Amino acid sequence: MRDRKPASEQPGTTAGDRSAPPVLERVRRRAPAILGGGPWRFRLTPDVDLPGAVTGWRLLYDGAHSRIYRLEAAALVVKLAEPRSRPRDDLRKYVMCQARREYRGAAFLNALGLDTPDMRGWAVSLAPGAHYESALFMRPLPPFVSGLRLLRSESDADRRAAFLARLASELGTLFGHGFVHKDCHFDNLCVRDDGRLVWIDCDIRRPGSAARRRQGLRRALALLRRTARNDIGEREWRIFKQQFGEALAHAPNGPSLIDEIQ
Ligand SMILES: Nc1ncnc2c1ncn2[C@@H]1O[C@H](COP(=O)(O)OP(=O)(O)OP(=O)(O)O)[C@@H](O)[C@H]1O
Ligand SMILES: [Mg+2]
Repeated sequence: MRDRKPASEQPGTTAGDRSAPPVLERVRRRAPAILGGGPWRFRLTPDVDLPGAVTGWRLLYDGAHSRIYRLEAAALVVKLAEPRSRPRDDLRKYVMCQARREYRGAAFLNALGLDTPDMRGWAVSLAPGAHYESALFMRPLPPFVSGLRLLRSESDADRRAAFLARLASELGTLFGHGFVHKDCHFDNLCVRDDGRLVWIDCDIRRPGSAARRRQGLRRALALLRRTARNDIGEREWRIFKQQFGEALAHAPNGPSLIDEIQ
């Protein structure tokens, strides 16, 4: 991701809405209270209406390093990321902050035909001691279960197999085009009611070297296996890996990675 520019920096859309993306605007303004104090630099699609008031935001998710809120009135979800280090690292935290990386990552995923939340922009805090360092703005997802939840609760073998086959195919597309997903586990994957997958946590990169692409694939597989170690059978895992390998075989950078899937 560092060394290549996306075909465009236009926002991602879900597969159901691939109309021309709106033009982005750069603005500086007083931040809405939910982001905390200090100046922020925004890059938002013009259709986003950011109210200043703190009321109306509902906490959806309270993670170790991030919080996700939803604002019903504006059909908006914001993911607020805390700094992982203090003092903040200038390049990674101001120039290529988490929200911006995810925003760009979603555009790459969409270009490959993979679904993500409908991204509406990002913002970075300019205050060195700010509680949150970046904010990712997106539209709320339609109803979904996480991939892990599906593996834990779904007993129908055909539905489990359909999910794993779809995942294998999409992973083959992603890795087979030279990308690496930095946090590839079943909880960072949503399964919609119609069975389609939505990739959240879109922090992906495209390493320049084959060795790092191979390492990225090994790590992703290990993480998938570890996070679902009690929830996926040996036979299911074997078939999943076989399907992943078949998907890689059809992608431009895929064949050189196949032997990592053993
Ligand atoms: N656009 C959205 N609409 C509805 N819910 C969402 C949306 N984006 C994220 N969520 C919910 O928030 C949860 C956490 O999201 P995400 O994985 O992006 O955060 P995270 O795990 O804290 O990220 P990171 O690992 O980068 O810190 C998701 O599992 C999902 O339930
Ligand atoms: Mg996550």
